[in-house]
Amino acid sequence: MNRWHKIAVISFMLSAFCLLQIERVFAAEVGGGDILFSDTKEQKGVTFSHKIHVEVKGNKCPDCHVKIFKMTKASTDKDNALTMQSINEGKFCGVCHAENKTAFSTSAKGACDKCHNTAK
Ligand code: HEC
Ligand code: HEC
Ligand code: HEC
Repeated sequence: MNRWHKIAVISFMLSAFCLLQIERVFAAEVGGGDILFSDTKEQKGVTFSHKIHVEVKGNKCPDCHVKIFKMTKASTDKDNALTMQSINEGKFCGVCHAENKTAFSTSAKGACDKCHNTAK
């Protein structure tokens, strides 16, 4: 490799690095980002989106933290506490995703697929 080759390669790498940093700033996560819950048996996994809940649907951090969810990934399903039964009893997602609450209930039409939205 001659000198000009080296300079070309190094400038290419530098600009690629800069682009990556810019990309990161624009893709900055909202709250805790996307959270995957995969203890779903035969159902698809559930990806909880902070971006949709906070930016699109207008929920505030204290609506969920920390009275419903700790701010730590995988804390909720400790001891298998997060299940359809506990949700349907009005806990966790079920504080809001229930009849006459702020969001679609687990028995609404198409609800299963809305939450069970992702490959495991
Ligand atoms: C609608 C409910 C809801 C709202 C609103 C919400 N969060 Fe979360 N947050 C969750 C859930 C659910 C988890 C995952 C808990 C688990 O995995 O057990 C979580 C986890 C987190 C985590 C841990 C992520 C990790 O990787 O360990 C952080 C940090 C966090 N949230 C910050 C925020 C901030 C900051 C806001 C406001 C901008 C916010 N959250 C708003 C539901 C919410
Ligand atoms: C509001 C979101 C939401 C809706 C709506 C929803 N689920 Fe779930 N489901 C979850 C979450 C969260 C878990 C727990 C995943 C974990 O612990 O990793 C779960 C767990 C499950 C499991 C694993 C066993 C259990 O009971 O925990 C099955 C099976 C399941 N859901 C089926 C369904 C079916 C069928 C529907 C529609 C009638 C449905 N779910 C609707 C969020 C939802
Ligand atoms: C503090 C209230 C609250 C909690 C807790 C909550 N949500 Fe939601 N969620 C909302 C609201 C409000 C909407 C928008 C209203 C609607 O679509 O019915 C929404 C919408 C959604 C949507 C539809 C997103 C879209 O693309 O339109 C999904 C999927 C969802 N929530 C999953 C979950 C799961 C899974 C949990 C538990 C881990 C959870 N939510 C906990 C309030 C909440």
